[in-house]
Amino acid sequence: MPTLEDLEQRLGGLEGRRILVRCDFNVPLRQTEAAQREIADDLRIRAAGETLRWLTERGASVTACSHLGRPDGKPDERYSLAPVADRLAAVAPGVCLAENLRFHAGEAANEPEFVEALVTGVLGAPYGEQRGGGAFDGYVNDAFGASHRAHGSIVGPPQRLPSAAGRLLQREAEVLGGMRTGARKPFVAVLGGAKISDKLGVVEALLSVVDRLAIGGGMCFTFLAALGHRIGDSLCEPDRIEDCRRLLDSGADIVLPSDITALDAGGTVRQMRRNIPDGCRGLDIGPGSAAEFDDVIAEARTVFWNGPMGLFEDKRFAAGTRAVAQSMADARAFTVVGGGDSAAAVAQFGLAPYMDHISTGGGAGLELIEHGDLPGLAALRNSPQQ
Ligand code: 3PG
Repeated sequence: MPTLEDLEQRLGGLEGRRILVRCDFNVPLRQTEAAQREIADDLRIRAAGETLRWLTERGASVTACSHLGRPDGKPDERYSLAPVADRLAAVAPGVCLAENLRFHAGEAANEPEFVEALVTGVLGAPYGEQRGGGAFDGYVNDAFGASHRAHGSIVGPPQRLPSAAGRLLQREAEVLGGMRTGARKPFVAVLGGAKISDKLGVVEALLSVVDRLAIGGGMCFTFLAALGHRIGDSLCEPDRIEDCRRLLDSGADIVLPSDITALDAGGTVRQMRRNIPDGCRGLDIGPGSAAEFDDVIAEARTVFWNGPMGLFEDKRFAAGTRAVAQSMADARAFTVVGGGDSAAAVAQFGLAPYMDHISTGGGAGLELIEHGDLPGLAALRNSPQQ
C-alpha cells in the first residue's frame, strides 16, 4: 500500500496541499446529566493523531472526515460529530472536520456524485478553522475500523486522488493481516462475544492458523450444547449447533469452559460445572475456566483476543473477562486485542498499556483475518493515481 512518504513524494511536498483524511471516529458516546453527548472512549481519536499531526507538521491543510453511528442518510443532530470535534482539536490542532459522512445517502451507497462532492471539497468542514477551500490534492485512509465497508469515502477517493494509507491503517493491516501468515507459534486465539453466527467465518479462518482456540462468552453455550451438555436458559443458536459440532469434530484444539458463572431464577449468582439447569442462565466463564485459559495464554507466543468472556458491564459477571485481560497483560506472548468490547474492557480494567496492540477495528479486524483483505486496503493498492 502507498505510504504517507509516497504521497509526499508524489505531490512534490505537502506544504499548502489540501489533504482529505478518512478517519474512523465512530466512538462510543454517553449522555451526561445535562443531556449532552460525551465521548466514553477516545481511543479511535487518539489513534489517528499520529497521521494527522504528521501531515500538519509538513504544512498540509488537513480535513478529517468520518461517520458516527448509523443515521439514515440524512442530517440528524443526534449523530453530529460535534463532541468529536472538541476532542480532535486537542489531539491534532489545526485539523478541520467534516460533518458525519452518513448524513448523505451516497456514502453507504458509494454514489459517484457523493464521491465527487467529497473530493472537490463541496461538502465543506464545519468544525475547525478552514485554510482556503476547493478540491483536495490528496487522500489518506486512516479509518481501519471502517475499511471493511465499500463506502464512498473509503473506496471512492483513491480512484480520483493520489492516495496513501495512514500510519494507523498501515500498522493495523500489518498486525491483523499478519495473524494469518506471520504469527509466532504457539499461536492462541481467545474468542468471546454473544453470537457464534457472527463469528463462524472467523473461527474457521483462525482454526487453519492457530494452535489452540479458547472460546468463552455467550457463544460458548452453542458449543456446549453441541457436546450434549444442558445449558439451561443460556444463549443458544440452535441452527448453529451442527456447525459447532463439525468444528469440534474437526480435530482442532478447541478449549471450552469447564465451569460457568450463572444467574438462577431467584436472582442468585451461582457457580456450576458444564451442565446448567433450566431456569439458570450462564453469564460468564467460571474461575476454573479462567485458570485454564490463563495456562493456555501463558504457553503462547502470540495471542489474539476478541470478545468478552461474559456480561462484563455487570460487575457480577466481569471476572472472566478481567482474568483473560490480566493473563494477556502478564503473557510473554505478542498480544493483540481485537477491538470493540474487548478493547473497552481492557481500558476499563486499566490494562491497556500492557498489550502489544489494541486494534481500533472490531468487525474490520475480524474480516481481515477471515478474508485476508478489505475493500479499503484493496482500493489503496489499486489506486490508478500513484
Ligand atoms: C465500527 O465501529 O465497527 C466501524 O466504525 C464501522 O461501523 P458500522 O458497523 O456502522 O459500519
